[in-house]
Amino acid sequence: MNTGFYIGAENECLEKSVQSSGSLDLLGKGDGAEVMLQRIKADKTVFIEPGEPSELMEFFYILDGVIEVEHDDKITMLKRGDYFYSHKLKQTIQFRTKTDVSLIYFTTHPVFYYLSATIKELKALADKVSEKDRYILEHNRRVRDYALKIAGKLNLSKERSENLAFASMFHDLGKINIPDEILNKPGKLTEEEFELIKQHPADGSKLVQKTYYEGIADIIHQHHERLDGSGYPQGLKGDEILLEAKIIAVADTYDAMTIDRAYRGRVSPQEAVDELISMKGIFYDEKVVDAFVQVLKEENII
Ligand SMILES: [Fe+2]
Repeated sequence: MNTGFYIGAENECLEKSVQSSGSLDLLGKGDGAEVMLQRIKADKTVFIEPGEPSELMEFFYILDGVIEVEHDDKITMLKRGDYFYSHKLKQTIQFRTKTDVSLIYFTTHPVFYYLSATIKELKALADKVSEKDRYILEHNRRVRDYALKIAGKLNLSKERSENLAFASMFHDLGKINIPDEILNKPGKLTEEEFELIKQHPADGSKLVQKTYYEGIADIIHQHHERLDGSGYPQGLKGDEILLEAKIIAVADTYDAMTIDRAYRGRVSPQEAVDELISMKGIFYDEKVVDAFVQVLKEENII
């Protein structure tokens, strides 16, 4: 049962990333913040760089070892018990480890995923899917950007927005199991072919289950569900569908309608929006569509 309280024993972590210079263990995370245990080998040069977003704060507490830092034309030696942090950093800071070093590394915004082996595997899989269907990679990025803008309008928390971003990038991973001829077939699909297409949300969700990112499995599973129960694969209705999945449904449908595909031409942004609005409350969540229309208006797209 999730009580919201977590205990970790020595050498346990949520996910571990190993690099040639050392390793990074994700110990805890919440509300976008992350706490990591970083180990760096001796005689390595490492950097802290101005981050994304610009208000990023990163804090380091030295558990063991000696680090040399150059700052304000001065060289300082930092040792066990010393700490340093950056907030709204403007320039790159360079460090040199004099011995093997271990640090507690805290950050106010997620950084671990840059190094996550799971994310790398999922990205490699997403690249394979996009080889099957060249529209997919760009499509996923646009779906993510639209989804995050909708999330901003709906005041979703940092944590939920972060999951939404991952789910958007990986929502169609399950298409890896669909034969290319079906994926790119011009014209209407047969009933059997459509049955295969209908499996991709469940297949995609299985790929992220049992990884550290399983929080996005249900979102991926539900991205083709529709409010009235007419979607697939589970035929969920209304509140049974996660808000994140409803957001991806709108962003995904809009983007699919406004780009040219093998099986049909595209429609204008205004026509696509009119279609979304006409199905508001039937297929698509009302507040999600309203938020999206607002985003497109602000960006002068409609
Ligand atoms: Fe899909």
